Amino acid sequence: MKLFDRQLVFVIGKGGVGKTTVACSLAISAAQAGKKVLLCEVDGVSRAAQLLGVDPAEPGVAGPVVDGVSVMGIEGSAALAEYLGMIVPVRRFLQAVIKSDLYQYFVAAASGLKELMTIGKIFYEAELERPGGEKKWDLVIVDAPATGHGLQYLRMPRAARDAFGAGLVRREADRVVQLLTNPKRTAIHLVTTAEEMPVNETVTMAERVRDELEMPLGVLFVNRLHSEQFRKSDIEALMEAGRNSRQSDIRQLMFDVAARALEESGWSRLNKRYLRQLAKQIELPRVELPFVFAEEFGHPQLLQLVESLEGGK
Ligand SMILES: Nc1ncnc2c1ncn2[C@@H]1O[C@H](COP(=O)(O)OP(=O)(O)OP(=O)(O)O)[C@@H](O)[C@H]1O
Ligand SMILES: [Mg+2]
Repeated sequence: MKLFDRQLVFVIGKGGVGKTTVACSLAISAAQAGKKVLLCEVDGVSRAAQLLGVDPAEPGVAGPVVDGVSVMGIEGSAALAEYLGMIVPVRRFLQAVIKSDLYQYFVAAASGLKELMTIGKIFYEAELERPGGEKKWDLVIVDAPATGHGLQYLRMPRAARDAFGAGLVRREADRVVQLLTNPKRTAIHLVTTAEEMPVNETVTMAERVRDELEMPLGVLFVNRLHSEQFRKSDIEALMEAGRNSRQSDIRQLMFDVAARALEESGWSRLNKRYLRQLAKQIELPRVELPFVFAEEFGHPQLLQLVESLEGGK
């Protein structure tokens, strides 16, 4: 598949593998290709806004455009309140309901309601049209929470559709399921690192998305790849030179460099092994992203990943 030929993409994966980073890189890359992009961070900590260097807007509101991308934080309770605002027109009355203990209790107790509302909000944004009938967003990218929870969001519309026999909720849920399972419009991208636990989890996740949710998988992003392999003889020569050096600071420097080289080679070998496993177990187009070394990963590092994405296209 081409990276940007769908309108709605979800970026899912195990905790900490780089979902937010990949979602931001995708967003910038698509915007550079001229697309109007909305990046939705679900239940996050505004990391996406931070990486893009903007102040987060309030939940449910598209923030200002930066690098061609608008960022929106989506949070279940806010999405529910917004939805109720559409069907309960009297604002004063609505505020009273939302502030009531009963409502708070109901929202906390109704399992899945927040997830349902979150997906509903994403659906709404993906379907939004400008006055001429053109879609407001060419691309909506959803930065999902970590694995189990991310799948829970995707599962909710189908659960709601099956739970309600007829009527408004069933019809609405059905429309959302139609969009999520439509391979012409939607793709679920997976992100992993090439290490044992994330790879195993990703294999299971891919099966669930395909077999249980019946949603179209997109691309497998393998993030934070180490690729330098130093020859053993080079590392040994470095150690030897260190031992022969009479200056203690130079000696230490050489040992440190040799240790880093060893470590890097070790990571590269390990990554290579799990890349092979991924190739065997997940039949999806793959995009490999390098480990970007920096004291702190920020906007410049993000732009490096955008370049890698473009190189891989
Ligand atoms: N290609 C990369 N090179 C180096 N560091 C990276 C790379 N991609 C991500 N990171 C770093 O890895 C950490 C986790 O990344 P990120 O926040 O994108 O993961 P996540 O999957 O969204 O995490 P969470 O599950 O907590 O939402 C961050 O510190 C990020 O800066
Ligand atoms: Mg994240």
